[in-house]
Formats: sequence, structure tokens, C-alpha cells
Amino acid sequence: MNKQLRQQVDEVISHYGTDREALVEILRDLNQDAGFLTREQLDLIAQRLDLPQSDVFSVASFYSMISVEPLGQHVIRLCEDAPCHAAGGREVWETLEKEIGVPFGATTPDGKWSLLTTSCIGACAVGPVMMIDDEIYGNLTPEKVREILAQYEGEDEGDDEDNGGAE
Ligand code: FES
Repeated sequence: MNKQLRQQVDEVISHYGTDREALVEILRDLNQDAGFLTREQLDLIAQRLDLPQSDVFSVASFYSMISVEPLGQHVIRLCEDAPCHAAGGREVWETLEKEIGVPFGATTPDGKWSLLTTSCIGACAVGPVMMIDDEIYGNLTPEKVREILAQYEGEDEGDDEDNGGAE
């Protein structure tokens, strides 16, 4: 594991502590940075919390907001907190699953999309809200979701254009 990742794990653990009860928060926090956790990170967490590696791995695998696999080329994160949900998040959720073709928590077989949820990203006033990579999209409706996704169609045919996404 590179030094930066190790340092990151240690910083998060020093914030939450080494009790077993802190495990989910630690995993969740670290997962938010890269979108997934590496096997090395999980092993280090197990070591620091003095837990069996298998326990840490099964907890990480259990929660849909934590990924133990690399993500797709583009990562969609739909806010699942109550204000966004109340503003029509359920319809947006269903549209995304239908249009992307995989359930939340999964990556498309071609590796183009990962569909994830997130907690509040502070844009509740324009909910429902999703992020695609680093780009925030608000006031979502099923129609608007389809329009946004259409912007990403065909991008593999030309050069690999960056749509404001994270790296
Ligand atoms: S509740 Fe969705 S952005 Fe705040």
C-alpha cells in the first residue's frame, strides 16, 4: 500500500477510534474518498482494530454504500437522504436503475458506470440530487436523468473526453 493510503487509513482510525463499533464509520469514511476500498486497506483496518480480516471484509461487503471493487469509468451517486427522497428521489432511483441497467451498488459489465448512493451532499434545496463523478446535478426528474445520461452516450466512439469527472 502506498504511504498516502496508509496515512489516510490511520487518520480516519484516529478520528473514530479502534473499537469494533467504529468499523462501519471507518469503512464508510474511507470508501467515500476513492469510491471503493482495496484489499490492502481492509487488511490494515483489520490489523489496527485487531479484528479478523474476514470480519472486516464481510462487513465491507454487506453495506451497499461500501465497495470492495474498483468502480466504473463514471460513478453515479444518488443522494438517498430524506429531503431528496421526499422531493422525488424514488422515481429518479428507478429511472437510473432502468437506464443504466444495473441495481444500485453495481457496476455495468462494460465497466462504464457504477451506480451508488450517497448521503446528503449539501444540495438539498435542489433535490433530488446526484453526482456523476465530480459533477452535481439537481432538480432531477426521470426526464432530466435521461437527458443527462444522453450526454455521456457515444463518448467511447471519439476520444476519451472528460465530462468533468473525477480521476
Ligand atoms: S438530502 Fe440530498 S443533498 Fe441533502
